[in-house]
Amino acid sequence: MSDPGVRRIGIAGLGTVGGGLLQLFQRAEPLGGGRLKVVAVSARNRSRKREVDISGYEWFDDPVALAASPDVDIFVELIGGSDGPAKRAVEVALSRGADVVTANKALLAEHGAELAALAEKHGARIGFEAAVAGGIPIIKALRDGLAGGNRVSAVSGILNGTCNYLLTEMETSGRSFEEVLADAQRLGYAEADPTMDVGGFDAGHKIALLSAIAFAAAPDFSSVDVEGVDQVTLLDIRMAGKLGYRIKLIAKAERIDETVRAHVHPVLLALDHPLAVVGGALNAVVVDAEPVGRLSFVGRGAGAGPTASAVAADLLDIIDGAARAPFGKPVGSLKNYTSAARAEEGRFYVRFLVKDKPGVIAAIADQLAKAGVSIESFLQDPAQGGSDVPIVLTTQRCPRSALDAAVRQIGALDVIAAPPRVMPIEETRSANRAWS
Ligand SMILES: NC(=O)c1ccc[n+]([C@@H]2O[C@H](COP(=O)([O-])OP(=O)(O)OC[C@H]3O[C@@H](n4cnc5c(N)ncnc54)[C@H](OP(=O)(O)O)[C@@H]3O)[C@@H](O)[C@H]2O)c1
Repeated sequence: MSDPGVRRIGIAGLGTVGGGLLQLFQRAEPLGGGRLKVVAVSARNRSRKREVDISGYEWFDDPVALAASPDVDIFVELIGGSDGPAKRAVEVALSRGADVVTANKALLAEHGAELAALAEKHGARIGFEAAVAGGIPIIKALRDGLAGGNRVSAVSGILNGTCNYLLTEMETSGRSFEEVLADAQRLGYAEADPTMDVGGFDAGHKIALLSAIAFAAAPDFSSVDVEGVDQVTLLDIRMAGKLGYRIKLIAKAERIDETVRAHVHPVLLALDHPLAVVGGALNAVVVDAEPVGRLSFVGRGAGAGPTASAVAADLLDIIDGAARAPFGKPVGSLKNYTSAARAEEGRFYVRFLVKDKPGVIAAIADQLAKAGVSIESFLQDPAQGGSDVPIVLTTQRCPRSALDAAVRQIGALDVIAAPPRVMPIEETRSANRAWS
């Protein structure tokens, strides 16, 4: 007979996060103070040598069978992936009314509404604090701490530690993206296949979840406009620095009239922007809301300790009866108003690489003037571009469509040596409409 005062946990996935969680259960003062007990585990390879002792738990080769086990009250999914065994196992657990805790942003960003509906139907709860910004309790802050009285206008952040590490290393060491990435892979800071991180998709999954909670919307990753850091060059980092900006990969969700726009882009931040000073592998989130004002959160977004800390908080909320609806409201009242439309207006950084010939600057200025785009500052630095000369300008506030049209015209001129690069400049103060 099981003790009715003890909730039995099954953990699928014993890697970085699962291993970190088991360590919390194996401390002298174990997690949950006797009210939580790990009874079963699953991973791909039973004979793999692990840093934690798993001999005291029932072993399942198949995570779906673990999720189906009547001996498990709370199923903890730490495998990863938006589909496959993680999704099947979570569905099986929820369908029989077992609570689920997961760190899987891909799964929830792509299937969050259907899983939340399944949980509602069967009276189960879903916790996913670890899925966004690791140890920073941003989901709880948005869903519980700001609930009721506040209207959020924007949530933005540095949500991928790998990208932030790469950009910081490029700036401080003066090495190229490829060199820094190769080093990060050798040191284990970046995956062998870095696409999810450097392509911006991981940050896109996370902002889809924050957007859903902040704006009571169904999570919709397909509506997130995603661009990664793989096209950010050392030249752009240096030229932006000379103009008083730092390039960061920013994920942002903002309320604009009756829609929510969610996007991930490399962005120029003025050095006094709260996100500009967040370096290395750290994560950060800035929330703009009324009446509370601007809130900033900074911390470790990955790794065994921070992520296990977030999973632990979800487990305690479940046993304390404090877990709320996954996206703050019942699924039926979540809105579907996320749009991938780009920002209509903003200030922008534009970089050209030109052949060193007379009349180039006049040709660029002429096209921009014809499009009604006013130049705010201008920088030419022959020392930076090799045989070609970089010309960088920042625009005054202008329609993005007008700028894009002018840049297309300029890019077709035979004095232009490489495709021009446009990046938005984030205003430090304004919460909205600064970038796309
Ligand atoms: N790492 C972080 O810092 C971090 C931060 C936030 C969120 N997350 C999320 O947490 C989840 C887990 O990440 P992680 O870094 O801990 O991953 P990981 O270190 O790669 O571990 C994955 C675990 O899942 C197991 N597994 C893989 N495929 C399986 C299958 N088909 N059936 C059963 N088990 C399977 C693996 O088994 P073997 O050990 O036998 O290979 C391993 O134990 C992901 O959703 C990730 O996005 C991670």
